Amino acid sequence: MKYLVNCAAQFSFTIFLSLALLSGCTSTGQGSSSSQMPALEIPSLRASQVSQPEGWNDDVALTIPVDLNPDPNILEINLEAKITNMEIMPGKITPVWTYGGSLPGPLIRAKVGDMVIIHFKNNLPDSTSIHWHGLRVPNNMDGVPGVTQDPVDVGDEFTYDFVLQDAGTFWYHPHINSAAQVGWGMYGPLIVEDPNDPKEFGDDLVLVYSDMSLDEDGQFLPPDVGGAFSDLFGREGNIILVNGKVQPKLKVRKGKQQRWRVINAARTRYYTIRYKRQPLIRLGGDSGLAEHTETLDQIKLVPSERTDFVFTPHDEPGTVDWLRWYPTERGYGSTFNRFSEEMMEIETVDEPAVLPETIPYALRTIEPIDITGAKDVLIDLTITFPDDNSVEMGINGIPFWDSSPLLGRIGETQVWTVRNDTDFNHPFHLHGYFFQVLDENRVPEWKDSVDIPVRTELKLAVRFDERPGTWMYHCHILDHAEVGMMGTLRIDP
Ligand code: C2O
Ligand code: CU
Repeated sequence: MKYLVNCAAQFSFTIFLSLALLSGCTSTGQGSSSSQMPALEIPSLRASQVSQPEGWNDDVALTIPVDLNPDPNILEINLEAKITNMEIMPGKITPVWTYGGSLPGPLIRAKVGDMVIIHFKNNLPDSTSIHWHGLRVPNNMDGVPGVTQDPVDVGDEFTYDFVLQDAGTFWYHPHINSAAQVGWGMYGPLIVEDPNDPKEFGDDLVLVYSDMSLDEDGQFLPPDVGGAFSDLFGREGNIILVNGKVQPKLKVRKGKQQRWRVINAARTRYYTIRYKRQPLIRLGGDSGLAEHTETLDQIKLVPSERTDFVFTPHDEPGTVDWLRWYPTERGYGSTFNRFSEEMMEIETVDEPAVLPETIPYALRTIEPIDITGAKDVLIDLTITFPDDNSVEMGINGIPFWDSSPLLGRIGETQVWTVRNDTDFNHPFHLHGYFFQVLDENRVPEWKDSVDIPVRTELKLAVRFDERPGTWMYHCHILDHAEVGMMGTLRIDP
């Protein structure tokens, strides 16, 4: 199959095979005419005619919560936050902070238009809350203590309910003491399905990437370990997790596509992932499908960002290799002397290859936000050093605790210039509303989280729809948010 791999590098298998059959492929010097191509190399089955290998995703399985509501359009669950002992490092017990006793928290999955009701109970030793990252929820469901609700104190309960307005890959996490709580395990995936998505995308695989800072006994390092220097750099954990596991295994079959929905739930870590530079067909990100697909050989995810892509296994049956994490340039010291790490083992099972399905190019219409007459707003992401031993971050030089809200009105459109003159990248996130990045080099899509690299700026168009209230915006390196890089936006009726 070397023949196929060499020639097909730039093409999908489907296109390549038809070309090869029509014309022969002469570039490799082997099998230089179609008549010499052994019949066995042409898969006799299409991807849609076979299932994934048995137990393909067992090792990365997520917890599925019990739906208490018989109505097919309502998902109603109980969710308890509690500490659960887990074996993250072999033979060591780690007291993980969890939603529902699993890491990550249960997979909340429903279809667009459904209602979700979550009866939340806090049995942690600290106050907490749930923020539904990226979802357009009513303001009082946004889960920000002190802004949209009271903290859910130890032993207390709170019921969240909202309608899922948009299909996409989302997640949930606390919004109080969040650098620490997310670092201890508080995050879970929330998938909103669009029943009209093409079947060709393949079977869904939800992957939550995160990390943890553990000592050699499996105990958490203090959440403020490293002091001001770590506030500045952000605290990357020393153990990379995929769905709560160290180096889990995935089984694939050559040619049989999978739709990966990847979430970066780490408090600071950026993820650049690759599988031997095999093509990954990006479908979209934060809020569902993009305007069209894009074929990439690696995927970069900043904290809180999501990416959906089609993974088409290209390896020969019987191959075992690693999906790898690569360091991402995100400012001073982020890549120096750092190396790639093995994240997830991919075993291509010993079953005959199948012919991949063709993934459509055009996916969705994304109407550009009309920015004529839009109000311009400058959001300068700033870092200051009040003294030798501390760092303070803010928006336009003002840390969160001294800030006053930006203002807007329902029906208004604004263009935010998010500027970063600091030495570190900042993944910028807005609650409540999606934005469009005004950059012709990007595939149009709706986003709620975007990287602002060192010494650059991005323009974001945002339109405020029918949900007034006070919403957060902040850097999603949670260590940066914690030292002040956060602000509020008040939308009046
Ligand atoms: Cu992922 Cu303010 O949140
Ligand atoms: Cu930041």
